[in-house]
Amino acid sequence: MKGIVFTEFLEMVSGRFGEDAVDDIIEECELATGGAYTSVGTYDHRELVSLVQALSSRTGLPAPALVRAFGVYLFPRFATLYPRFFESTTGAFEFLSGIEQVIHAEVRKLYPDAELPRFEIERHISSELQMVYTSKHRFAELAEGLIEGCLSHFGETANITRENLPDSDGATRVRFSLRRHVTATA
Ligand code: HEM
Repeated sequence: MKGIVFTEFLEMVSGRFGEDAVDDIIEECELATGGAYTSVGTYDHRELVSLVQALSSRTGLPAPALVRAFGVYLFPRFATLYPRFFESTTGAFEFLSGIEQVIHAEVRKLYPDAELPRFEIERHISSELQMVYTSKHRFAELAEGLIEGCLSHFGETANITRENLPDSDGATRVRFSLRRHVTATA
């Protein structure tokens, strides 16, 4: 997994739980890297899973909730770090429906060794977006948090439901369905 994900995660931990929390979880995990990441490096994604577990034990917060919160934190960071990916986008559904063909395709050009998930768009109409996440990594909570972060970045709201699908070829599959809130009219 690219170092940017690790450096951003540790930034979030430092901001929310303090620098001591960062030092403690790194020490507790006994990582091969010693917790020294650079944004362009590539590291074993299991180190992130260990760091999340250590943070969960320290804070008493469930690991899936921490990963989701990280996704919410990460989205606006992506908007700051990669502004050109946002230049021509008009809204959250448009942005999300282009992750596979546009956003992650550009990410792959920047980082040819990136191990990106796959997103299939099953339905995209103005009120509804249905997308299926497939990955050998089990980071559906990260996807969920990024989806939430994307909606709030564009100032939009939608109901998000999640359906776990059977694994395929050892990869996790999760369907996310987003429905815009309908405002009642008199
Ligand atoms: C500007 C927006 C985005 C950028 C620049 C971006 C970039 C990246 C990068 C660099 C990685 C790490 C790849 C690796 O470690 O090898 C990644 C992974 C990931 N991205 Fe994106 N991403 C963006 C938006 C999104 C959105 C909106 C979603 C969710 C719908 C998403 C879902 C994920 C997930 C779940 C992973 C973890 C890897 C996995 O599950 O297999 N990304 N992304």
